[in-house]
Amino acid sequence: MRRPLVAGNWKMNGSRESIQALVAGLEQALSDVEAQVVVCPPAVYLDQVAAGLKSSRIALGAQTLSEYDAGAYTGEVSASMLGDFGCRYVLVGHSERRALFSESDAQVAAKFAAAKAAGLVPVLCVGESLDEREAGQTLAVIGAQVGAVQEVLGVDAFVNAVIAYEPVWAIGTGMTATPEQAQQVHAAIRAQVAEKNTAAAEQLPLLYGGSVNAANASALFAMADIDGGLVGGASLKVDEFTAICRAAQG
Ligand code: 13P
Repeated sequence: MRRPLVAGNWKMNGSRESIQALVAGLEQALSDVEAQVVVCPPAVYLDQVAAGLKSSRIALGAQTLSEYDAGAYTGEVSASMLGDFGCRYVLVGHSERRALFSESDAQVAAKFAAAKAAGLVPVLCVGESLDEREAGQTLAVIGAQVGAVQEVLGVDAFVNAVIAYEPVWAIGTGMTATPEQAQQVHAAIRAQVAEKNTAAAEQLPLLYGGSVNAANASALFAMADIDGGLVGGASLKVDEFTAICRAAQG
């Protein structure tokens, strides 16, 4: 049985003050939620959020990391630094990183490897564009993104890891994939992982992301291979995010 998992990706939003209020609100609202909840604040606020979450079961995640361990990489943050600040999870290869910051499949795989080497749980984000979906390439695109990580990390790539399927056309647009569309992709991802490692595939949490909200979460999470969500905009609102986390526990 896979434990439901809901991660909030705050992206580049918030201030010291607004984040203090958000953390306090979440701590209270989520105190009895059984799903594993993760919040991913901007890196400069990790310490503040870690301090605010000290007595809570909410886990801390980062939004990206460097593929390098240490040294002359101005502006970068390493996996071990994230661990030092209490992170357990880190998003890798979010579509905004791939599109706006030119992260390639190879770089994403290197970041994924760096996260695992430091004992963090990488959350590999994959997803197709609208053009790719309309051209019938969805499963091929996702297969290549997952395959790039398998190629570098081998059969145990997805042991102690998470994959989030986030169709690019559904992110921040209010256009959610239907539960059936998402399930089809999730099933294909699990099958691809199972080809290399059946046990890892069984245990692998597969999250859906892209305009998840309190109204559509239950139907998505009811699908056999959807184990939770990766939530953007709605994760900045205590009531909305709490409702999504409750929907994940069934
Ligand atoms: P939205 O929930 O705002 O569509 O964002 C999804 C996302 O990109 C989470 O990583």
